[in-house]
Amino acid sequence: MALMDKHKQIKRQRLDRICEGIRPPILNGPMHPRPLVALLDGRDCTVEMPILKDVATVAFCDAQSTQEIHEKVLNEAVAALLYHTITLSRDDLEKFKGLRVIVRIGSGFDNVDVKAAAELGIAVCNVPAASVEETADTSLCLILNLYRRVTWMHQALREGTRASSVEQIREVAGGAARIRGETLGIIGLGRVGQAVALRAKAFGFGVIFYDPYLPDGVERSLGLQRMATLQDLLIHSDCVSLHCSLNEHNHHLINDFTIKQMRQGAFLVNTSRGGLVDEKALAQALKEGRIRGAALDVHETEPFSFSTGPLKDAPNLICTPHTSWYSEQASVEAREEAAREVRRAITGRIPDSLKNCVNKEYLMAASQWPGMEAATVHPELNGAAYRFPPGLINVAAAGGLPGAAAGVESLVQGTLAHGIAPVSHPPHAPSPGQPTKAEADRDIPSDQ
Ligand SMILES: NC(=O)c1ccc[n+]([C@@H]2O[C@H](COP(=O)([O-])OP(=O)(O)OC[C@H]3O[C@@H](n4cnc5c(N)ncnc54)[C@H](O)[C@@H]3O)[C@@H](O)[C@H]2O)c1
Repeated sequence: MALMDKHKQIKRQRLDRICEGIRPPILNGPMHPRPLVALLDGRDCTVEMPILKDVATVAFCDAQSTQEIHEKVLNEAVAALLYHTITLSRDDLEKFKGLRVIVRIGSGFDNVDVKAAAELGIAVCNVPAASVEETADTSLCLILNLYRRVTWMHQALREGTRASSVEQIREVAGGAARIRGETLGIIGLGRVGQAVALRAKAFGFGVIFYDPYLPDGVERSLGLQRMATLQDLLIHSDCVSLHCSLNEHNHHLINDFTIKQMRQGAFLVNTSRGGLVDEKALAQALKEGRIRGAALDVHETEPFSFSTGPLKDAPNLICTPHTSWYSEQASVEAREEAAREVRRAITGRIPDSLKNCVNKEYLMAASQWPGMEAATVHPELNGAAYRFPPGLINVAAAGGLPGAAAGVESLVQGTLAHGIAPVSHPPHAPSPGQPTKAEADRDIPSDQ
């Protein structure tokens, strides 16, 4: 027991040292300037402020790319809050000189290169719970719309279609189908996938799922049928609903090849991430009727427009603008929880005090080499290989806003054109003795 505690303590000390060795700790308290927290892709901080105002200065950037972020934020922010409308690739992350924590106001974090962040000593967190019900409800709403054709009937009436005779009703409601006995195939049985499964059962769907990362037994606790392969799921589903997170392994999971494995005339729903679907292949399948209808809340390029891209003339398509997550309550809850996570980062230890750190493993992995006791573990590596010796742990971060009282600051860089940077897939961790470009470029901060 004592041995385990000791082991844990050593592990924690090592992680602390690494995180703080790569980037200095957040200094907080009456003797230090207030740390700067920046909301990157929004301007309303009214929910976050009351939670953070006694420990930080909060600024907003309202940016869609790091090119639009003010120098002051890039140099001084210790924490960044963000939605899904800005991307932080390795190059973007390297621009932030004092950043220690990034908190996604929401659950998906595919817009942040979490491995690169870890290698730079930046913890990345999310808010996994806030929108589970909203996203599941919207997914069901879209699935039901494909079966019951409500959206298209509404549109027909708006366009002046009359449906007084039974023949006219058959005409306008053509394609509406019974749900009982249909098979819904869920790809990715995480929080949202499970919530969708529970709801779908109540509507009479037989529910099957494919999720290779879940342990055996989930199918029994939820009363679902598990498919061993993606192909099995596609072959057996009348409607396929995507609920897996987007990662470097599943870009264009639904493509020309996998669409051909789906049942003729199946439906496709995606409230997960646009990058999971090859829209060109989907458009073609919709035109040929191989896919009977599709409902997409997320798109390869966002904000989505019906007037551009491969889906512009695809039939039987319902699109919403990445709004599945939204309800007033979910939005406030996510913002409060994100602000509390930033508060924990400022007042506690990174990453130990964080509740939902998604790159802790990468932080550990990235920390392996600088975490070693240079003198005792690998004496031969002493010196140049260790860029941040233990003595640097306590150097100060770039200061807060001199003389600034707690309050929301606008740091909008208004002169640059908007544009979302392309998603980059996280590269592998550097090997010992090969510092990242960021490390190589970064000046070692001086004592304050
Ligand atoms: N449209 C919206 O507004 C909205 C709102 C919330 C969440 N989302 C997205 O929905 C997705 C699910 O969210 P969540 O909170 O349930 O996430 P989660 O992490 O709880 O679940 C994701 C599941 O996908 C599985 N998975 C990963 N790769 C897979 C693959 N290749 N094949 C099959 N399964 C795979 C994982 O094992 C995990 O169980 C995320 O991408 C999230 O970003 C979108």
